[in-house]
Amino acid sequence: MDDTIREKLIVALDVPSYDDARDLVNLLGPTVSFYKIGLELLFSEGLALARELKSEGKRVFLDLKFLDIGNTVERAVASAAQLGVDFLTIHGHDNKTLKAAVNGRGNSSLKILAVTVLTSLDDDDLKEQGISSNPHDLVSKRAQMAHQAGLDGVIASGHEAAAIRSSTSNAFLIVTPGIRLPGGASGDQLRITTPHDAILAGANYLVVGRPITAAADPKAAAHAFLDQIASA
Ligand code: C5P
Repeated sequence: MDDTIREKLIVALDVPSYDDARDLVNLLGPTVSFYKIGLELLFSEGLALARELKSEGKRVFLDLKFLDIGNTVERAVASAAQLGVDFLTIHGHDNKTLKAAVNGRGNSSLKILAVTVLTSLDDDDLKEQGISSNPHDLVSKRAQMAHQAGLDGVIASGHEAAAIRSSTSNAFLIVTPGIRLPGGASGDQLRITTPHDAILAGANYLVVGRPITAAADPKAAAHAFLDQIASA
């Protein structure tokens, strides 16, 4: 498998313990080169694992979704940049947070991605928050804000990727969760796409969690996702 295909797949290590994550990484071996560490693993040696994965030549995405006052976001991002990881998320709801993250990143090589609208939310969830816009329009608006503020990219579903690509630039990263093989169980995700469709729509990276981590054979599942990416 070509490295350019392999590096598009980010496996979300949404498991409860360091040992579970380590077993999974060992099992997947060279099939997977990019891992996402989120809130669940953060509190059980997730940062130690992040450092370890970096020393083993893997790429690491810290999905910590910061949202706070500017001063706190800036300093937290600056601190995260020192870890030498590759991607970090913030919530991209407002310009103050976006700008604070850009300042915190400074000249480091850390890529900051703005979460636009969680892929588990739909129209009704936004209405409940008093937002009259639909997910598609809100994602497009927030992606343009992130692009203008100098972020490196966004997290968005495959449904919005094409609109984001056309309203930002070719260099702006689109990282897409909510990825399922045709007929795969969606779980709590609402705005799902197949790997093939997400890549064709302009996604640079795909985030896949449970369809690989909870599969009977995670390595075979990872290969099935890579085959779909290659087919696009
Ligand atoms: O198991 P599944 O493939 O649904 O996991 C998707 C991963 O992507 C989870 O770790 C989730 O936190 C993350 N994510 C998401 N939607 C976003 C941002 C991140 O599903 N908008």
